[in-house]
Amino acid sequence: MSISGDSGSARSASRPDGEAAGGPRRLAVVTGASAGIGRAFAERLAREAWDLVLVARRRERLEELATELRAAHVRRVDVLIADLGSSAGVRALEARIADEPTLELLVNNAGFGTSGPFVELDRDAEEQETRLNVVALVRLTHAALEAFRRRGHGSVINVSSLAGFQPSPYTATYGATKAFVNSFTQAVSEELRDSGVRLQLLCPGFTRTEFQEVAGARTEEVPEFAWMEPEAVVDASLAGLRRGDLIVIPGAGNKLLGAMLRAVPSAAARRVGAALIRRRLSKG
Ligand SMILES: NC(=O)c1ccc[n+]([C@@H]2O[C@H](COP(=O)([O-])OP(=O)(O)OC[C@H]3O[C@@H](n4cnc5c(N)ncnc54)[C@H](OP(=O)(O)O)[C@@H]3O)[C@@H](O)[C@H]2O)c1
Repeated sequence: MSISGDSGSARSASRPDGEAAGGPRRLAVVTGASAGIGRAFAERLAREAWDLVLVARRRERLEELATELRAAHVRRVDVLIADLGSSAGVRALEARIADEPTLELLVNNAGFGTSGPFVELDRDAEEQETRLNVVALVRLTHAALEAFRRRGHGSVINVSSLAGFQPSPYTATYGATKAFVNSFTQAVSEELRDSGVRLQLLCPGFTRTEFQEVAGARTEEVPEFAWMEPEAVVDASLAGLRRGDLIVIPGAGNKLLGAMLRAVPSAAARRVGAALIRRRLSKG
């Protein structure tokens, strides 16, 4: 995967907060940086001269990425191995957040989904999903906002999903965790309206990462045009951060889908959604 020199580089020469590269050092923490959207955040932010703390469970992947980014951008890139589905992992990152005076951006990106009929899914996995997608995100947002509010600046990007806009039969827990993130992020953003601190709710649609494989989701019927690359998702997010947008839905197709999902009554959305998935399941 390329880490420099593509079309986003000129536009992203300034930081999301408007400060030119070469100014005082600013640190971003990216969770789930070992793959997919988180990795793309790490690459983009490194190119914009941010220092980085990369967080995930897979040490080898993170070390490799950190070495690549240091070589290309000569910035501070630290690795924190943590399972954010565990209390110990979340608390370790909270402590790190409190300890970093130059922290300016937290990207709460780590997340996973489960798919299938809810009663047939593994109960422990459903709990882990809720712990990672909800509990860790709340605690880490709180830890970062304490510091940001004191300083009067700083940003949190919470990675949600279009799946959070309506109940999602057959990905019920995942959709519900993202609905939580949607509501939570918008509410806290309003509380901090005039504080100088920003929150962003990033709601991607289908994105080419390891997510679908981890979720065991069948995507063969998803049309080619519906997919986005993680780098494009991140470019939309960072452009939105520069503009101060609260809700970012990357891609024109996803924006349209997001508007439709929000307009449709939830009874209709959940019935149509469930019927489509049942039809797919019955085909085997
Ligand atoms: N891809 C999509 O279609 C899509 C659409 C909408 C929203 N999203 C959201 O985008 C975010 C990123 O997902 P992705 O698509 O980039 O998926 P991905 O390629 O599977 O990456 C997920 C990342 O989360 C990390 N992670 C998973 N469990 C973790 C844990 N217990 N502790 C710490 N880190 C953990 C993984 O690292 P380790 O395994 O190394 O820990 C990995 O770096 C998620 O919040 C997801 O819900 C994705």
